[in-house]
Amino acid sequence: MDARRDCFSRDGALFFVGMEMPESKRAFGLNGWLRSIPPFIWPALFASGSGTRLFAPRRRFDPGSPELMDRPGMDRALLREELQTLEYFNRHAGGHWLVLQYVKRFAASHPPASLNILDLGTGAADIPRALVAWARQNQRSLTITAVDGNPEMLEFAREAGRDWPEIQFEQHDLRALPYARGSFDLVLCSLTLHHFTTADAVTILHQIHQLARGGYIVNDLRRNWLTLWTTAFFARTLSRSPIFRNDALQSCRAAFTVRELRALAEQAGLSNFQIEPHQALCRMVLTGRK
Ligand SMILES: C[S@@+](CC[C@H](N)C(=O)[O-])C[C@H]1O[C@@H](n2cnc3c(N)ncnc32)[C@H](O)[C@@H]1O
Repeated sequence: MDARRDCFSRDGALFFVGMEMPESKRAFGLNGWLRSIPPFIWPALFASGSGTRLFAPRRRFDPGSPELMDRPGMDRALLREELQTLEYFNRHAGGHWLVLQYVKRFAASHPPASLNILDLGTGAADIPRALVAWARQNQRSLTITAVDGNPEMLEFAREAGRDWPEIQFEQHDLRALPYARGSFDLVLCSLTLHHFTTADAVTILHQIHQLARGGYIVNDLRRNWLTLWTTAFFARTLSRSPIFRNDALQSCRAAFTVRELRALAEQAGLSNFQIEPHQALCRMVLTGRK
């Protein structure tokens, strides 16, 4: 089995497990120790379903109790503060950089004609702005349709996007998008999939696959103890936003594991996709080409 698949099949938590080692070293070190664990133990450690797992807590998602940012009537000042915090973390903790690397890779293999991008769950649209800034600097022509379901979120996004005519804003529920098949060269969805039930996540992934003419990049938190603990630490020490403090942890608990995301993608009919771990195992990026 390919080393990368092997690592993902074990949730990626010990992603060196499947790496090839010289024959002489196979029985030694942590890798050798892990290989010495009887195979029937692994399913017990990584089994989904009930109970806590060794490397990832059970998914906690209650559609009746959404993240504070998704609740209607949320205080506007607090919501604005939340979006500023999210943008700050995206900018300084590598969120923009991560998406940009994948978009650059996609753009490099795409003819230099204009790129037509769809960004789903855009929030304050800071990712679209970062992409347009890059395109302007590199003489690439880019248009982005930034979609969000929350009208207040879009109001902030429009305000912040005043000087970015390459971005147009539209309000839609991601579970029922109105676009025709193959409408966009590239479809992005960042830090948003965990806002949905597994059934809705499958619907959204299916639509992403349908709408993308060239490819798609879905980037999200990855549920495991490390993500939960580091997020708890940073949310409590670096942020004063009450929405961020609550939602950051709720997001980590609602996020999927690599294995779950792969299963959702398969159910959604995606083929020829890959999932890569990022940011010290705290994030994952699902990409595919058409
Ligand atoms: C955590 S924010 C992500 C913002 C941005 N993409 C980023 O990476 O920072 C998730 C976004 O998904 C949006 N969202 C949640 N449920 C939605 C739905 N059913 N339809 C459309 N957008 C939704 C929220 O309004 C929010 O802006």
